[in-house]
Amino acid sequence: MNSIIEQLNNRFSEALVAVFGSDLAEVDPLIFPASNPKFGDYQSNIALSIAKQLGQQPRAIAQQLVDNLKLADLCENPTIAGPGFINLTLKPAYLETQLNSLQKDFRLGVEKAKHFQRVIVDFSSPNIAKEMHVGHLRSTIIGDCIARILEFRGHEVLRLNHVGDWGTQFGMLIAYLREVFPDALTTADVLDIGDLVTFYKQAKIRFDEDENFREIARQEVVKLQAGAEDSRHAWQLLCDQSRREFQVIYDLLDIKLTERGESFYNPLLPEVIEDLDKQGLLKEDAGAKCVFLEGFTNKEGQPLPLIVQKSDGGYNYATTDLAAIKYRVQQDGAERIIYVTDAGQSHHFSQVFQVAKRAGFLPDNVEVVHVPFGLVLGEDGRKLKTRSGDTIKLKDLLDEAVDRARKDLEQRLEQENRRESKEFIDRVARVVGISAVKYADLSQNRTSNYIFSYDKMLSLQGNTAPYMLYAYARVKSIGREGNIDFESIAEDSKAILEHETELALAKAILQLSEVIKHVERDLMPNRLCEYLYEEVSKKFNRFYENCPVLKAEEPLRTSRLILCDLTARTLKLGLSLLGIPVLERM
Ligand code: ARG
Repeated sequence: MNSIIEQLNNRFSEALVAVFGSDLAEVDPLIFPASNPKFGDYQSNIALSIAKQLGQQPRAIAQQLVDNLKLADLCENPTIAGPGFINLTLKPAYLETQLNSLQKDFRLGVEKAKHFQRVIVDFSSPNIAKEMHVGHLRSTIIGDCIARILEFRGHEVLRLNHVGDWGTQFGMLIAYLREVFPDALTTADVLDIGDLVTFYKQAKIRFDEDENFREIARQEVVKLQAGAEDSRHAWQLLCDQSRREFQVIYDLLDIKLTERGESFYNPLLPEVIEDLDKQGLLKEDAGAKCVFLEGFTNKEGQPLPLIVQKSDGGYNYATTDLAAIKYRVQQDGAERIIYVTDAGQSHHFSQVFQVAKRAGFLPDNVEVVHVPFGLVLGEDGRKLKTRSGDTIKLKDLLDEAVDRARKDLEQRLEQENRRESKEFIDRVARVVGISAVKYADLSQNRTSNYIFSYDKMLSLQGNTAPYMLYAYARVKSIGREGNIDFESIAEDSKAILEHETELALAKAILQLSEVIKHVERDLMPNRLCEYLYEEVSKKFNRFYENCPVLKAEEPLRTSRLILCDLTARTLKLGLSLLGIPVLERM
């Protein structure tokens, strides 16, 4: 099933060719949803954009197009406005047929992509033995949503966790591990090191205090890099411990990821340096090997270097990302690589992308995109902290969201005089709490900072997860009240669109596929949230206030039930692409 815009596009292309010849067959007719309903439903700006090329007045072009457009089955007669916009208003009968085909389609009109890409989404990516912080939480939530949308469009998505599991800090950690758990390396398979962040801090204190310890730590790095078995074992123990801690968060958030940490690319690093050298890109600067960048200069206007091998021979974050690009293109066959990190890494990525291109690791047909996001702030507008001023543990943050959701729910149950089982309360609290955190993040334009507020995200009012979940449950309750079997309705009943609010809701529902394609392109999940809230939920509410459903006469009653069902299914599918499950009751 083609989306409405695609169908309109086809008709416009035919008219363009008929009037101006086949040169214009590939021109985008520039059809967008109208900015204001008084201009109809869609608007085309094509006449303005080709006026110069054709050497004609835009209004004259628009007129010729309108005269030749064959749209009678889709639209009322098009009108020309202002300098030459073509306004289109869809016919109710057309909307009805569109809705009827949607009804039988579990994808709700979101067709699969024409060309399936192999996409890598590099997201979450916390660092071993360090705190997984709110920045990683944002990356996890946004990356998962992007991956879900691409998967739904049929792309082959590799979800990669580029864990920071390598670096000189492991010398210190292993040396400390040997001190505190002298038997760990010979006996235990699973070692409970306890809180790794505390462990890291204690190791750091030892490192800073004791010259002797520092020397041992340095030797450990050398041994680890040389592949000494017991050093690798110690490193593995540390990674395992972190992994278990990360997994708790991923389970809570329902996130699937394949771990491929920095250490994976370790054996490939020397070759990266050789490649850069062969391409003549490598320069020595104060003992370090680097590539001088184009378009990045210091205060004096000199090109900045990207260091790829330090003077002590060690490699760094950039070298690893270069190796990762090469591997992902050559071995994974990636055609699009998406990196979800805080905006602070934008420079890093544009530099690495540039060097990768110049080194030939990145052919033109591979797209690399950095998807940056802003900071998570507390309600005081500062970095998010606990009341005592410590960094917040993600587990605590999520637990608190669930606890608060539970309190809200218990209060509501009391007010409504309802009794529910413990399982019900647990499940609703968990879904609402976790979804609230996810939705609060996704509904923001990701490039801006966002203020983390439990009160706001858990509110039943406004653009929040509880509101969306409630909207869904409310539609479902209509079905329960009327004892409706929606699946059997879907079989052969038809929608009838008469009331203005029915038409508006139908148009909203029919936009889902355009919205998804938009997010697939520009990777802005907030557009999907905005659509579900502003379009679907609000239009549904207006419809429901104005049009009785269960009390309506047939055939209107069935038609309105169809609208209810499609609303619920749109919300459910849309929310699932955000990583949010729905609740039939709450
Ligand atoms: N570990 C990094 C951090 O915590 C994020 C890694 C992002 N991915 C990458 N390929 N560089 O900031």
